[in-house]
Amino acid sequence: MSWNPIRKTLNAGEPAPNLTDYAEACAGFSWGEARAALADLADGALNIAYAAVDRWVAAGQGQRLALRWLGKNGERRDYRYADLARLSNQFANVLERLGIRPGDRVCTLAGRIPELYIAALGALKAGAVFCPLFSAFGPEPVRGRLVSSRARLLVTTSLLYQRKVAALRNALPDLEWVLLTDATDLTDGDAHPPKLCAFHTLLDAAADSRPAPRTRPEDWALLHFTSGATGAPKGAIHVHEAVVAHYWSGRMALDLRPGDVYWCTADPGWVTGVSYGLIAPLTNGATLIVDEAEFEVRRWYAILEQQRVNVWYTAPTAIRMLMKAGLEPAQRLDLSALRFMASVGEPLNPEGVVWALETLGRPFHDTWWQTETGAIMIANYRVQDIRPGSMGRPMPGVAAAIVQRRADGGVERLAPGQQGELALRSGWPSLFRGYLDDAPRYQQCFADDWYLSGDLATCDAEGYFWFVGRKDDVIKTSGHLIGPFEVENVLMEHPAVAEAGMIGKPDEFASQIIKAFVALKPGYEPSDALRKELIGFARTRLGPAVAPRELEFVADLPKTRSGKIMRRLLRARELGLPLGDLSTLEEEPPNP
Ligand code: WT7
Repeated sequence: MSWNPIRKTLNAGEPAPNLTDYAEACAGFSWGEARAALADLADGALNIAYAAVDRWVAAGQGQRLALRWLGKNGERRDYRYADLARLSNQFANVLERLGIRPGDRVCTLAGRIPELYIAALGALKAGAVFCPLFSAFGPEPVRGRLVSSRARLLVTTSLLYQRKVAALRNALPDLEWVLLTDATDLTDGDAHPPKLCAFHTLLDAAADSRPAPRTRPEDWALLHFTSGATGAPKGAIHVHEAVVAHYWSGRMALDLRPGDVYWCTADPGWVTGVSYGLIAPLTNGATLIVDEAEFEVRRWYAILEQQRVNVWYTAPTAIRMLMKAGLEPAQRLDLSALRFMASVGEPLNPEGVVWALETLGRPFHDTWWQTETGAIMIANYRVQDIRPGSMGRPMPGVAAAIVQRRADGGVERLAPGQQGELALRSGWPSLFRGYLDDAPRYQQCFADDWYLSGDLATCDAEGYFWFVGRKDDVIKTSGHLIGPFEVENVLMEHPAVAEAGMIGKPDEFASQIIKAFVALKPGYEPSDALRKELIGFARTRLGPAVAPRELEFVADLPKTRSGKIMRRLLRARELGLPLGDLSTLEEEPPNP
């Protein structure tokens, strides 16, 4: 089925788009100019939190609403830019008092609560490296990330601490402080670190002013763990200069402007919730809506209507759930404030784009990027017609191409329509600067001066990019990137399991769900009870977002001569695909 382009017209009374002429914006672009809009610290210093918050206060805009928090029980809390400036100063002062130095890692493990945002901004001001951990992770992913980040301080809640961290306490030698957001009076009987403290008690006692940050553009700022096809999750490092791309893409791709009410539904435990749930909107002077509750159709529509959201950034999984809920809850909604809607994280089906146009009166604009790119690289812009199913065109300032690696290590650019790997010419500010402790792996992501994304795509003659799939075995489930290694490893720890292999199985709502194939050790027999036990075991250790949803027993797993599980073969069998030439399945391709 082919889809007609969606033609754009400006609705009466709507402000002109920030990006009015794509070709001109691309031709006349310089990152230096984008940066000039942000950099007003002395001596070339650059700091994400200052650019996001204090810059507005210094410009006399401190009274503007920066963050409106909607609690899951109906509470509402408002923070002006001046409030965030003050609170993040206090948190930065707390960090200094506790001996946290520039470059030290500060982690959060929390849901969407105001303290997380204060901690992120405060850590950045103190020159620490902010590293969010998803609150729905189980103890195992939390442990792995706390160990490999060498986190010195963690901000979390009492409940999450008890459930996911307390038992690991002695296995985390670098972790010195745990700040509990909901504790008031703490008596920590244990003499061993980490020391438990009450977040708000420390915050209240700290001074609310500080000298302007002195971080350099290349100083580390953010650490985001992301999964690869092999090995443990990798920590992608971003520097303060990334803020230039957050700001610029927020302006160009999301059409953000000062005073906008903006809602990014991504969780701040992942990169989208930090780059676009915090940094991009605040650097653009918008008011961000933070909803603590989980997805719920009527609640979401009510937020769009009642908060008079102007710009909405969400994900295909949620869009498919809204589609499933049908017309009725969407009727009689006043969405007159809503100017722009965008999507990210998984393929956005053309049906979703068109459904939105018919039901909500505006289309979704797909955008593409990755943890490693730090910011939106490819987008559908407000000014341009949409080709439903396409991810759009490169951001002004970004060069994208479809390439193939050559045997000599270089890359060859492919012609329009040909399928290959989506590559971006390196040099934009939010390109990651390394994988923590893994220089070789970082090197493998580059060829000539291109960053290779690991995604397969095509590009048409007009420069629109179309997503095809992943080159490797990572899985996108409900927008979360999951690597096979973490899941398989945990299953293998169960006494009944000899071997495990996992694949992504197509799913109507989640894009893919995780399906595990398990070979049992001698003495164990497949049964429903054992299947339930193994899924339960994985859920307890990994958390519901990462654990397999389906599990099938097999006699043994297909493997290469060198003993690697051939997940592609499992996938082909599961989906009833032709197995093709098996010799090509013998070894995994060399893959970063
Ligand atoms: C992977 C990156 C979502 C950005 C932050 C999370 C997939 C992303 C799209 C899209 C099809 C998409 C890609 C990419 N992806 N956007 N518009 N259409 N697929 O980044 O967790 O590192 O995931 O998400 O496969 O490589 P991430």
